Amino acid sequence: MLSMKLTAMACCLAIAGTLSVNAEEMEDARTLVKLPSGIKEKMVIIMRDHIRALDDIIDAVQTGEYDKAESIAESRLGWGSPLRITDQEVIKHWPEPMQKMADQLYHAASNYVVVSRNAAVEESKGSYQKVNAALGEVSSACCACHETYRLR
Ligand code: HEC
Repeated sequence: MLSMKLTAMACCLAIAGTLSVNAEEMEDARTLVKLPSGIKEKMVIIMRDHIRALDDIIDAVQTGEYDKAESIAESRLGWGSPLRITDQEVIKHWPEPMQKMADQLYHAASNYVVVSRNAAVEESKGSYQKVNAALGEVSSACCACHETYRLR
């Protein structure tokens, strides 16, 4: 579980790190995505909720509150879920490959919920390892997009 927290932290540091690196020393290979200003603000607000949600999920898993973790994943990490109107408003301004990456997060989060519910039925050590792996795929989906795109 600690390693999962470290992965999530590494992900955050990767974002923060881009700010402290001297632009002349390191070329930023990420693609700049230009968004209308109001949309950009909406996007970073959702992003901040994403990192909060991921942290809340990890905390819930650590205390064995699997139901709680599932409902956070379902309600807060479903980028692009048709129910999330604000997401749709932001996503339509993105290049298509970036929209696909949002889909990957949506699928990883949905898959996490399924794997976690199955684990509750099976209750074996192996099934909880699958839960951890499924959660790892969620944070990998965050990192994949962060490594490819930037807003500034
Ligand atoms: C489809 C692409 C995409 C996905 C998926 C994605 N992000 Fe982001 N996120 C971005 C981009 C682009 C930025 C802006 C980065 C930059 O300009 O340096 C960003 C910024 C952030 C920020 C900084 C917000 C701020 O205040 O500036 C956080 C925190 C963050 N994302 C967390 C997450 C987490 C956690 C996940 C997964 C649960 C996630 N993101 C999934 C594209 C994505």
